[in-house]
This record gives sequence, structure tokens and C-alpha cells, in this order.
Amino acid sequence: MISIDLKNKTALVTGATGQLGRVMVRTLAKAGANIILHYHKNEIMAQKLKQEILSYQVKCFIVQADICNLESVLAMKNKIEKEFFMPDIIVNNAVISYSWKPILEQSIEDFDSQYQSCVLQQVCMAKAFAPAMIAKKYGRIIGINTECAMQCYPTQGAYAAAKRGMDGIIKVLAKELGAYHITVNEIAPGWTISDRDRENHSEVQPESDIHIPLKRRGTDQEVANAVLFLASDLASYITGCYLPVCGGNVMPSI
Ligand SMILES: NC(=O)c1ccc[n+]([C@@H]2O[C@H](COP(=O)([O-])OP(=O)(O)OC[C@H]3O[C@@H](n4cnc5c(N)ncnc54)[C@H](OP(=O)(O)O)[C@@H]3O)[C@@H](O)[C@H]2O)c1
Repeated sequence: MISIDLKNKTALVTGATGQLGRVMVRTLAKAGANIILHYHKNEIMAQKLKQEILSYQVKCFIVQADICNLESVLAMKNKIEKEFFMPDIIVNNAVISYSWKPILEQSIEDFDSQYQSCVLQQVCMAKAFAPAMIAKKYGRIIGINTECAMQCYPTQGAYAAAKRGMDGIIKVLAKELGAYHITVNEIAPGWTISDRDRENHSEVQPESDIHIPLKRRGTDQEVANAVLFLASDLASYITGCYLPVCGGNVMPSI
């Protein structure tokens, strides 16, 4: 039987307190990985998640950082290096949320926040954590992108531009780090069902579901499953990949 076993691996997920990040850390922990749980402001959620993660018989370490700021990310790295295990797997999942508007109405600050959290996060995290992966000659870097990067619908300007920029960094990193057996990939969720929808009973969205080839929205667990796959040895020969998890809503062509 083939199974995914991440025992003796350590995974760091940024934005682990968010809607999708919390399911990623649970899933990686259930596969045996020790977890570095990153948060920005929601320490209460981080502490709550830590208790749950520990129940999966793995180790868990909480860190705080602003992923847009290199100094803050390097301070997080130093804390991890001193007090825990350096990650074999990093999942760059955090994002700054903002209100989507047409480009003519969207503020420059919103464009900047998306550039910072989608593009610079990849750069800061690579500068902080890739050197240890290079030394180990092993690593998995997974960026969380979005189907919006392919759709470029009205009001998505700041988000789509930044996620497209992120794609450039991820692909260059994949080429620069491949020689060290480090894979660098992206997962691109569609509009995903998460705790927020379960609380609001908004899982079914007939107007959007009808256009999706699989006729439904995906779940946070389905996104986390793709993270788990790319983090595992089953994905050892996949790098530079943009993997949509969106029921076929976007289909990158060959
Ligand atoms: N949800 C979807 O339907 C969907 C669809 C497509 C793609 N995505 C992508 O999936 C990823 C996760 O989305 P989500 O919906 O789970 O987001 P979310 O619920 O809004 O969570 C965002 C996370 O990012 C953290 N964060 C915000 N600003 C930060 C900063 N400056 N520094 C460090 N961390 C910061 C937050 O930390 P605190 O809460 O601790 O402050 C939170 O954990 C994103 O990359 C997003 O683009 C999501």
C-alpha cells in the first residue's frame, strides 16, 4: 500500500491561522510532520491549533512574523533555529486581505500590500529558509497561488497582478534550487469552502458552481491534500508546477 509518511520532517506553514492554513497544518501533522505554526495577529487561534496539532503525536512550535518584512522573517528563522527544527517543507500561504475594486478605484496601497504579501513573501521566505535546505540537499517549497491569476476578472487587478508576479519568483526559484534537490511548486485553489462557509451555511453557490466543470466548489481539505502531495516524496520529480485545485475552473494549457 502506498501512503504518505512525513515522520522526521518539519513543515512551516505561513498564515496557519487562516481559513486554508489551519487545514494544511492539521493535514501535514496527520501525516507525521512536526509543525511550525506561523501567525501574524491571531495568537489565540495559533494557541488553539497548537493543542490540536499536539494531539496528533507530533511536535508543534508557534512563531509570529510579518511575512512582508525580511527582518521579521529572519528573526522568525533565528528563533526556529535556536528553539526547534529548521523546516524541510515551507508552505507560503499567508496573504493580506483587502476589498477587491476596479483598478481605477483600487488604492496604490492595496497594490503594494498584494505585491508585498504575494511576491516578497516568496523572496523573504527563500532567503531565510532555502540556505538550510541547500545545505541538507533537500527541501519542498510550496506557494499558494489562486485560479484568479489565470482568470484576471474585473476587480481582481491587485490580487491577480501580485499572484502572477509570485508565479515568476516560484519558477525562477525552481530553476535556481533544483540542483539541491529542492522542489518549488504552487497550488492554485479556486474559491474554496472553509470554516467561514460552514459557519455561514454558504457552501453551495449555484451561480458560480454551474460554471465549474466538477459543478461544485472545492474544500479546504482538498487544497490541503494537494499541499500534502507536493510536500511528499510522491512528488519528488515535480518542480516549477502551477497546480490548480479548482474543479477544472481554469485549465493551464500545454
Ligand atoms: N480562501 C480561498 O477561497 C482562496 C482561494 C484561492 C487562493 N487562496 C489563497 O490561499 C491562501 C490562504 O487564503 P485564506 O483564505 O486562508 O486567507 P485568510 O483566511 O485571510 O488568512 C490569511 C492568513 O495570512 C496571515 N497574514 C495576513 N497578513 C500577514 C502578514 N503581513 N504577515 C504574516 N501573515 C499575515 C493571517 O494571519 P493572522 O490571522 O494570524 O493575522 C492569516 O493566517 C492565500 O495565499 C490566498 O491567496 C485562497
